Amino acid sequence: MNAAAPLLEIDGLGKRFPSRDGRSMSPWVIQNLSFSVKDGEFVTIIGPSGAGKSTLLNMLAQTDAPSEGEIRFRGKPVREAGARLSPGLDCQIGYVFQDDTLLPWRTTIDNVLFPLEAQGRLDDASRARAETLMKAVGLNGFERYYPHELSGGMRKRAALIRTLVYDPPIILMDEPFGALDAQTRVQLQEDLLRLWEAGRKTILFITHDIAEAIALGDRTLVLSRAPTHIIGDHSIDIPRPRNLRDIYAVPQFAGLYETIRAQVQ
Ligand SMILES: Nc1ncnc2c1ncn2[C@@H]1O[C@H](COP(=O)(O)OP(=O)(O)OP(=O)(O)O)[C@@H](O)[C@H]1O
Ligand SMILES: [Mg+2]
Repeated sequence: MNAAAPLLEIDGLGKRFPSRDGRSMSPWVIQNLSFSVKDGEFVTIIGPSGAGKSTLLNMLAQTDAPSEGEIRFRGKPVREAGARLSPGLDCQIGYVFQDDTLLPWRTTIDNVLFPLEAQGRLDDASRARAETLMKAVGLNGFERYYPHELSGGMRKRAALIRTLVYDPPIILMDEPFGALDAQTRVQLQEDLLRLWEAGRKTILFITHDIAEAIALGDRTLVLSRAPTHIIGDHSIDIPRPRNLRDIYAVPQFAGLYETIRAQVQ
């Protein structure tokens, strides 16, 4: 392991898909995309719809392969044996999908424990960790409820805990709070920051919301329209812990917001 290497390096990444008839390739969705991420960094990524944000996360999670370029984890290309990041296999990556769903036939606790069960790592310690995390986001008492008996915000919390419970060093989150009302959203953002500050995992968090990107991140990357590459890389030097309910009043906020907004348009 190379201790000096960043945790994650995305180097000249490009992606295009086979056309429907399979005889040609689509235009480039992502091209020349490069950035690196430090251990423990909270990176928020903002970009227009269709820019290839979910495609990028899929390649990081290795559920899809790049057409060009390379992804390195602790200095090693992820396609090499020993450096694979596949979710569920060696537990290096947790992925909270854009349309995250719980299994409707399983109770909340059984949904949360599902990855551990699938990995054969379910034991008393991991069960206790799941219970602690559920409590931390106010889901205690709802362990035996089925997903349809929970509110949208509670389902999102359960999906988040399901990823945190197996303790991956990198967590990918694809617009996890997009469909929530403003109040529930701030509560979930607070839960997430509290859990992150306790464990300092590396997070890549996709959002459409500039305020959310600033409020949560150590750094915000701005993506262009397709073919997607990075057009902005902003350090968010707002001290932590942050008060998310008053984030607009922080002196740095307005300037960052304006700069990022100008790039997103
Ligand atoms: N499996 C696929 N086959 C063909 N084209 C695809 C595939 N997956 C994504 N695309 C195309 O790649 C482009 C980027 O899609 P992607 O879902 O990554 O965008 P996004 O930035 O996540 O958008 P949104 O903000 O709306 O979620 C789109 O034009 C989409 O049609
Ligand atoms: Mg998407």
